[in-house]
Amino acid sequence: MKSPNAFLGSLPTTIFTTMSQLAMTHGAINLGQGFPDTEGPATLIDEAANALRDGRNQYAPLTGLPELREAVARASKRDYDLDIDPAQEVIVTSGATEALAVSLMALIEPGDEVVLIEPLYDTYLPVLRLLGAVPRCVRVEAPDWHLSEETLRDAFSDRTKLILLNSPMNPSGKVFTAQELDLIASLVLAHDCYAICDEVYEHLTFGVKHIPLMTRPGMRDRAIRIGSAGKSFSVTGWKIGYITACPALASVIAKAHQIIAFSSAPNLQRAVAKGLDLGEAFFAELSESLRARRDLFANGLNRLGFPTLPADGSYFVVADISAHAEGRDDVAFCRDLVTEAGVAAIPVSAFYDPHGAEPPRHLVRFAFCKTEAVLREALGHLERRFSLRRVETRSSCRLVRAARAAPLVAYLVAASRLFRKWGSVRRFLVGRPFRHHPLVSPVPQERPVDRPRYRDHWAATRRSEPDWQAGCA
Ligand SMILES: Cc1ncc(COP(=O)(O)O)c(C=O)c1O
Repeated sequence: MKSPNAFLGSLPTTIFTTMSQLAMTHGAINLGQGFPDTEGPATLIDEAANALRDGRNQYAPLTGLPELREAVARASKRDYDLDIDPAQEVIVTSGATEALAVSLMALIEPGDEVVLIEPLYDTYLPVLRLLGAVPRCVRVEAPDWHLSEETLRDAFSDRTKLILLNSPMNPSGKVFTAQELDLIASLVLAHDCYAICDEVYEHLTFGVKHIPLMTRPGMRDRAIRIGSAGKSFSVTGWKIGYITACPALASVIAKAHQIIAFSSAPNLQRAVAKGLDLGEAFFAELSESLRARRDLFANGLNRLGFPTLPADGSYFVVADISAHAEGRDDVAFCRDLVTEAGVAAIPVSAFYDPHGAEPPRHLVRFAFCKTEAVLREALGHLERRFSLRRVETRSSCRLVRAARAAPLVAYLVAASRLFRKWGSVRRFLVGRPFRHHPLVSPVPQERPVDRPRYRDHWAATRRSEPDWQAGCA
């Protein structure tokens, strides 16, 4: 039998799936995958449910329901002062994942180079490789997620077709500044190429404002902007995305969308249209509530000896595990974290090109888009496993206990001597040894049963599992 597509066949199970499965098996708190553990706004859910009952169950138009396209255009004007034509410049897709794939399909010819910024979201590289593109990865470097101008310039060439920019960024939480965006815009113009902008966390920023690349000089017709209702309204299961692009690009993207999905659930589209009109107050409350949870969790991690890196946006915070790693890399650490602390996280090395330079191995990503109670519980688990204070307290307790026990020990030693003497007296009197008093000679114990530790158990099962180092998670 001929084999199926070799590249897809070789992709391992995603690290998100693997960590979620591990979390489920061990009843751990899942701070691995980025999904909120609360429902989205009730008004949206009611709207989606009502729409199912009033004849919205057949194919939606290819580019999306007019009311959603109009809402996207209104939101673009309100939030970023962008004038968007809802009839020609908006395409609704099945999540940002589809939006990314069809935008890449619309632009790429085999052999084209694509500039990417690592650490990066896991679907980018596999789609690029399927399309025959050549990835050129540059890195933002920990601990401050600095983007080097020189490295970025070097990544662009005459063969560059586009840059794929994710801001706010997953997993780093970096929000690109106006200066960085202007540098990127100047390189896009200098190399006559495009920018696909993954802006799914556009409304989830903390104390800084998200700036779409499309708003920078010269970018209106070269940038493709992608949003996600899943992230903006805490309904990740809905998978409704929206693309904004100039008509020349949007018309080609629509053709790719036609052959991949054609259209997306109309009831959900109607609800998302309502959501986009909720406006600034709604998004301000959402980001404020997330900021509070980021602070709660990041402060907790810092206290436990896991310094956190700056995270100005997204659902995620990255922490440095060096102080607790005990020789383990991020992957081994995350596995052990599930079994030993009952908390699931994602190793950051999974967000780098598996064919590229060595990734950092001392960073892990936690999702803080969970309720405060869940985050506090997770911190409690981590504290039980890692608390520095507990270690100190434990040793000082031992000293105090030893001091308190000293008189008792002295008494027992004296008593045991007396017993031994009493044994000799007794032997002298009755001729029988007094053998088994525990203080004289303990009764032999059975050998303790050898119980394999959890870690050994995982080492034994690891053989049958996929390659953990692959970036295509
Ligand atoms: C950076 C980034 N882009 C795209 C997506 C996918 O968004 P959607 O669920 O709308 O397909 C995600 C989801 O986690 C993401 O983090």
